[in-house]
Amino acid sequence: MTETTYIHGTTQSEQARLATLNRLTNGPFIEFLGVTPGASVLEVGSGLGILAIEVAGAAPDVQVTGLERSPEQLVAAASHPRVTFVEGDAHKLPFADATFDLVYCRYLLEHVAEPGIAVAEMRRVTRPGGRVAVMENDTSLVRVDPPRPAFQAIWAALARYQWQLKGDAFIGRRLYRLLKDAGFEQIELSLQPEVHWSGSPHFRAWLENLAGNLDSARAGLVESGSCKAEQLAYAMDELRQLADRSDASGTFAWNRAMAVR
Ligand SMILES: C[S@@+](CC[C@H](N)C(=O)[O-])C[C@H]1O[C@@H](n2cnc3c(N)ncnc32)[C@H](O)[C@@H]1O
Repeated sequence: MTETTYIHGTTQSEQARLATLNRLTNGPFIEFLGVTPGASVLEVGSGLGILAIEVAGAAPDVQVTGLERSPEQLVAAASHPRVTFVEGDAHKLPFADATFDLVYCRYLLEHVAEPGIAVAEMRRVTRPGGRVAVMENDTSLVRVDPPRPAFQAIWAALARYQWQLKGDAFIGRRLYRLLKDAGFEQIELSLQPEVHWSGSPHFRAWLENLAGNLDSARAGLVESGSCKAEQLAYAMDELRQLADRSDASGTFAWNRAMAVR
């Protein structure tokens, strides 16, 4: 069984959150990918296609395919002459073996029912000597100061709720094992940091992204009994208040892996 409910959904406000997250994280991630001229690239779980389009512009003559399960995300994606979007499932990629020079996914494996199958599929469609790159969440790494106890409680409830949906909010810490089990030998791990504080350029947007994660899962969190609507509203408010303080800060780190087929 490889069907999951996508915890964030595809409302306009969620798509706006995803676009903001792209603005916060695309630069270092594209540097990490090290796209080479003329490369044939696949993004699995391409969402709104914002990253895929930036990857196409990262080096001359790069061709990018974005594979995405949700028709709503595909409709909202912009277009680019060297980017093609395809509807499909990460568990069963509709591509022949050894098709791409570089295959990557970002913020995807936490949402799929069988991440091991998804990674094996990514390996299958990569040419021998080609590379597979992954960047994923481990939501336990979020730190804010001054402490936000109501937010922390609901943040933990969100991870438990995601687990009920067959996702894994902590999958970032499992990347090495997932890639090893898929048959990769050369695997390198790294972190992409988020470091923000009162007055730093992206502190407010980073806090908004955290609050947006809760907001987009609101209906499911409440209907599943994970928390009450009032608790959720209080927690989001408590978190957002940090943006207006002069003494607040927050950190996080995305888990990354790069492997050679
Ligand atoms: C958080 S978004 C990330 C989008 C994009 N990778 C980015 O970095 O902006 C995750 C995306 O994965 C898609 N997704 C979830 N499960 C999938 C699956 N089994 N196959 C393909 N896409 C899937 C969702 O519809 C969503 O658009």
